Amino acid sequence: MLKKTISFSSSKTTCYFDASFAQIGKLVEKDRSVFITDQHIYDHHKKHFKGTRFIQIPAGESFKVQYIVDQIIDQLISFGADRKTTLIGVGGGVVTDITGYVASVYMRGVPFGFVPTSILGMVDASIGGKNGIDVGNYKNLIGVIRQPGFLFYDISLLQSLPIEEWVNGFAEVIKHAAIKDAALFRELEKNSVNTYRKDKGALNELIRKNVLIKTGIVQKDEFEGSERMLLNFGHTLGHAVENVYHLPHGHAISIGIKAACLISEELLSFKETARVTSLLQQYGLPIDIPVDFGKVIEIMRMDKKKMRDTMHYVLLEKLGKAVIKPIPMSHLEKLLYSIARAR
Ligand SMILES: NC(=O)c1ccc[n+]([C@@H]2O[C@H](COP(=O)([O-])OP(=O)(O)OC[C@H]3O[C@@H](n4cnc5c(N)ncnc54)[C@H](O)[C@@H]3O)[C@@H](O)[C@H]2O)c1
Ligand SMILES: [Zn+2]
Repeated sequence: MLKKTISFSSSKTTCYFDASFAQIGKLVEKDRSVFITDQHIYDHHKKHFKGTRFIQIPAGESFKVQYIVDQIIDQLISFGADRKTTLIGVGGGVVTDITGYVASVYMRGVPFGFVPTSILGMVDASIGGKNGIDVGNYKNLIGVIRQPGFLFYDISLLQSLPIEEWVNGFAEVIKHAAIKDAALFRELEKNSVNTYRKDKGALNELIRKNVLIKTGIVQKDEFEGSERMLLNFGHTLGHAVENVYHLPHGHAISIGIKAACLISEELLSFKETARVTSLLQQYGLPIDIPVDFGKVIEIMRMDKKKMRDTMHYVLLEKLGKAVIKPIPMSHLEKLLYSIARAR
């Protein structure tokens, strides 16, 4: 187990890499903790919850909502949970987001930590302290920024993760490499999802690198002034495509990354679009679907990164170096339509 402490503006998160679930008893007192997980993870990893107090929620994004928060709170009350109780979210981004949120509001805040169980959870959702829930069609509308006390990485939990969720998570891994780490990009080019599924050493190292990329960005800009916006690479168009076509998140982001590369070619003379798109395909991600840009632009107009009539778009100067470029909406629409015509 490798320990690394990361400092944020007013708190610290301790990361435990290459860890094994059985060691968690060394970090927290089990009788002062409540584990929160979802049904899929519980079904696959029952043994880890034996002898613990745990709460199981149904699996899936549609349960990252207030009435599940209320149910969790009812169960915490029935366990007699108090301000010294640590909540531990064991799951993908849905479980960790909701656990962090409950921990931030229950008794005005109790300690919490995460054991992420999906690739996306490990490299992205568990990191950075954004914890929240959805309201109707509005994703992550309600929430807080509060850092977990610990992040605990046991990659053996990934053995039960369905292959399509591995692929989804790799969209964020490729995003990290494209915006911050050209060497990681070259490493990814030499490998595939299957290499990492089979090679524990390579996977542990990959997770560690990605955690450090995201924590590095969050440390510089915890409350999203500018640097943290780099993590939106591929997400401006991606979220709109996800919203219109109900694609898996990683697929939508992959399409968004391609579009951001093409815009980067146009505005910043970026030269490596072909390398990025072939890497996305190498990891099983789509780069093209017939997109109705009219509908997608309508959704983008409501995007929170749009200030007045200008969209703050994350673009690449080169591999490993992203910048935020303000683009007037009218110009952006022309660029997107010309991308659509060129397809
Ligand atoms: N807080 C943040 O900064 C942040 C960042 C990115 C994403 N998110 C949020 O994360 C969520 C997406 O995360 P996700 O992709 O992990 O989704 P998820 O939690 O829904 O997990 C995806 C599916 O995989 C299953 N699963 C997870 N781990 C498993 C395992 N080890 N074995 C078997 N099944 C397993 C889950 O039960 C679920 O069915 C979204 O709600 C998104 O808004 C948050
Ligand atoms: Zn994402």
